Amino acid sequence: MKAIVHEKTEGLEGLSLKDFNQPDIEDNMVRVKLKTAGLNRRDIAVTSRHKTDQPPLILGSDGAGVIDSVGKGVRYMALGDEVIINPGLGWKKNSDAPPEGFEILGLPDHGTFAEYITVPAENVEHKPKHLTWEEAGVLPLAALTAYRVMFTRGKVKEGDTVMLPGIGSGVLTFALKFAKAAGARVIVTSRSEEKLENAKKLGADAAVLTQSDWKEELKDESVDLLVESIGQATFNKSLEIIRKGGTIVTFGATTEDEVTIDIRKFFYGQYNLLGSTMGSVEEFKEMIQFIEKHNIRPEVDRMFNISEYKEAFSYLRDTKNFGKIGFTI
Ligand SMILES: NC(=O)c1ccc[n+]([C@@H]2O[C@H](COP(=O)([O-])OP(=O)(O)OC[C@H]3O[C@@H](n4cnc5c(N)ncnc54)[C@H](OP(=O)(O)O)[C@@H]3O)[C@@H](O)[C@H]2O)c1
Repeated sequence: MKAIVHEKTEGLEGLSLKDFNQPDIEDNMVRVKLKTAGLNRRDIAVTSRHKTDQPPLILGSDGAGVIDSVGKGVRYMALGDEVIINPGLGWKKNSDAPPEGFEILGLPDHGTFAEYITVPAENVEHKPKHLTWEEAGVLPLAALTAYRVMFTRGKVKEGDTVMLPGIGSGVLTFALKFAKAAGARVIVTSRSEEKLENAKKLGADAAVLTQSDWKEELKDESVDLLVESIGQATFNKSLEIIRKGGTIVTFGATTEDEVTIDIRKFFYGQYNLLGSTMGSVEEFKEMIQFIEKHNIRPEVDRMFNISEYKEAFSYLRDTKNFGKIGFTI
């Protein structure tokens, strides 16, 4: 089968489209013939984390397709079922943090940028009927992350004001739709005027440039909950814009990881800072019920053919996307 593989050279230079052995079926697992697969920023990071002396690795965490083989012991899935893949391995029940041994598809295990993948049966759910294959393939990782950020950690509620810096992000386009469905007011930022316009079309109530003076632009706003994933470039601006006693949930650091904060201002302001990452199988099921109930569809910016992998990775690296991009396989 054809697969996008990383090997030998660090970074995107180590990517190629190769023939790879089709995975065998095992007990309690299903094999999925993939139709589409979504890209995440993690796929770029994996090309640096996967060691150059390790065997070739198929990248990719997100995918959707049709079950073409069922292992012994599988009860709730059958041949021909249309499914989406939950890329979080080993996190079944809701808990404060992922359990020891939690992994994400696409490192260390082979991922979804291939014609077939074998995954534990508990990691597939029936494809929501209102989604196209493109929408289903780009949904899992980003929508699950946004769901836990907004609801489990951020506890967003009707009437809250939520702020989302860097709205081009795949995860944050879901966060915008989830927050609006929950009845919140949503402020977004982006470095691009065009992305701000796109976000307004999706329901954003206020939109400002990331590089602007937020305190000046948003002087009449009171931000209850801010979702921070840009990292060093914006973290302190984010901390300064939330109301006293307000909350930041952070799940990423697209720029640098390390930030310095004024701890005295922090404790006098009675702020809350929460971390979040992905989510459990239970949250994945809840997220699917939520998007079905509210008829939410992923924001698909662009799909690439699997052979256009170089273009697709560069497009994401250069943050040209508004929402999700993915492969048709
Ligand atoms: N912990 C988890 O479970 C988890 C899950 C998913 C993602 N993540 C992490 O969360 C982050 C976002 O993920 P994603 O896939 O949604 O990202 P993405 O689609 O790559 O988007 C990141 C956004 O950040 C903004 N940005 C990038 N560089 C910037 C800079 N120098 N200054 C200001 N803004 C900048 C851009 O927004 P504009 O283009 O609008 O300016 C960009 O669209 C990544 O770091 C990712 O690794 C973590």
